[in-house]
Amino acid sequence: MADRNSHSNGFESRRPLFCFFTIVTSFFVFSWFFFLRSTSLPHLLNHPSLLNQKPISNNVKETEFPYHSGENEAQQQGTSEKCTTNNAIIRVFMYDLPPEFHFGLLDWKGEEESGKIWPDLSKIPEYPGGLNLQHSIEFWLTLDLLASRFPGRKGPCVAIRVDNSSQADIIFVPFFSSLSYNRHSKVKPPEKLSRNKILQENLIQFLSKKDEWKRSGGRDHVIVAHHPNSMLDARISLRPAMFILADFGRYLQQVANVEKDVIAPYKHVIKSFVNDTSTFASRPILLYFQGAIYRKDGGFIRQELFYLLKDEKDVHFAFGSAKGSGINQASQGMHSSKFCLNIAGDTPSSNRLFDAIASHCIPVIISDEIELPYEDVIDYSEFCVFLRASDALKEGFLMRVIRSIGEREWTRMWRRLIEIEKHFEYQYPSQPDDAVQMIWKVVARKVPSIRLKVHKGRRYSRSRTGKWISRI
Ligand SMILES: *[C@@H]1O[C@H](CO)[C@@H](O)[C@H](O)[C@H]1NC(C)=O
Ligand SMILES: *[C@@H]1O[C@H](CO)[C@@H](O)[C@H](O)[C@H]1NC(C)=O
Repeated sequence: MADRNSHSNGFESRRPLFCFFTIVTSFFVFSWFFFLRSTSLPHLLNHPSLLNQKPISNNVKETEFPYHSGENEAQQQGTSEKCTTNNAIIRVFMYDLPPEFHFGLLDWKGEEESGKIWPDLSKIPEYPGGLNLQHSIEFWLTLDLLASRFPGRKGPCVAIRVDNSSQADIIFVPFFSSLSYNRHSKVKPPEKLSRNKILQENLIQFLSKKDEWKRSGGRDHVIVAHHPNSMLDARISLRPAMFILADFGRYLQQVANVEKDVIAPYKHVIKSFVNDTSTFASRPILLYFQGAIYRKDGGFIRQELFYLLKDEKDVHFAFGSAKGSGINQASQGMHSSKFCLNIAGDTPSSNRLFDAIASHCIPVIISDEIELPYEDVIDYSEFCVFLRASDALKEGFLMRVIRSIGEREWTRMWRRLIEIEKHFEYQYPSQPDDAVQMIWKVVARKVPSIRLKVHKGRRYSRSRTGKWISRI
């Protein structure tokens, strides 16, 4: 027994050491296991070589990209790598329209001097300033396409220009229609038609002869018509195409609608508020509005509001358009206001909303018919106040709503404005998620529904040749 005891004692005396050893070992094994699980394993599993990351086929390349945020996005857009047809979000074929349709309207003399169709991007012709600029969307989109294949290009890889239209997701029509309207809608005798009308007529002629147009009936064509009066003569003929517009105010539902077309922001004319350190307290004006008061159509509400608000002390309600020195004045006004009114004018949209965003002045939107850019990915209620026109015209209603928004809520909306303002900036070269990229992404999201329509449209195409119909 004693022996046994002693043996057992001896065993027991070694036990703590054994236990200690076992615990340390298992701890080590476990921690290694968890280390692997938490770090290496997911990496291994996600390693590109283990996944078939190639699109199933080039022809059915997915266009999934709703709106990603954070690292995914940077990765997907390949901010640093070369932009190719495989990593771009949307492949665009652009017609080589003669310069009279685009940069020629900016007095660029390409064709005459060198037979060139597109300008050298190191010497970009300037788009006229002032209020012309608010509709300059055509210019920024075209520049982005022209630069899309530069080897050293910086910036996101969203749209890439391809030379073969069969490999494109959409066909871009580079007509500067807003500029054509702004500059050439007057008839200059002895001519009988304005240049704006002639260009539109020639565009219809050009497109109707193109295989690309015939192939899809124009459905996969993208036409920029941001000025509400641009493309006035051609819009009905070209209605199968996707239009990029400011709003639908002057369009028939069959010609343009939310389903088919894209709403793009105006380019703001007021200076961006760089390094805005203002606070609720440091912006003295509660509510700001500057604009023409007597407008036709939907604009009557401006007059009504003027009479409701004219006696409020901390409200600035003034008339006159933002031209010349008015722009500086309005910049100052919006930079010193907490809220900026955006009332329907003669169209449901106006650049005032985008001026307010650039000024970080919380937009108060009174425009029942307004359509907002990329609203499928941006929740405007986070940084705008919306009021129905019928409510806003009730005595005291508007001011009650505005005054009920305290410092905390205002500051939260102001912060959000600063976060999202980049989505409304047009620039060249374009930057990640600026207006140019946001527009291309909206266009990309429409590609599947365009394909659906094009394919459906082909169902009975044989009938037209007569071959198939004769068998019925
Ligand atoms: C364009 O692409 C289509 C389909 O990928 C191909 O059949 C055709 O040969 C290409 N055309 C040219 C000119 O490369
Ligand atoms: C904004 O702030 C940055 C960093 O402090 C500074 O470099 C820049 O010059 C400022 N810009 C303006 C317009 O004040």
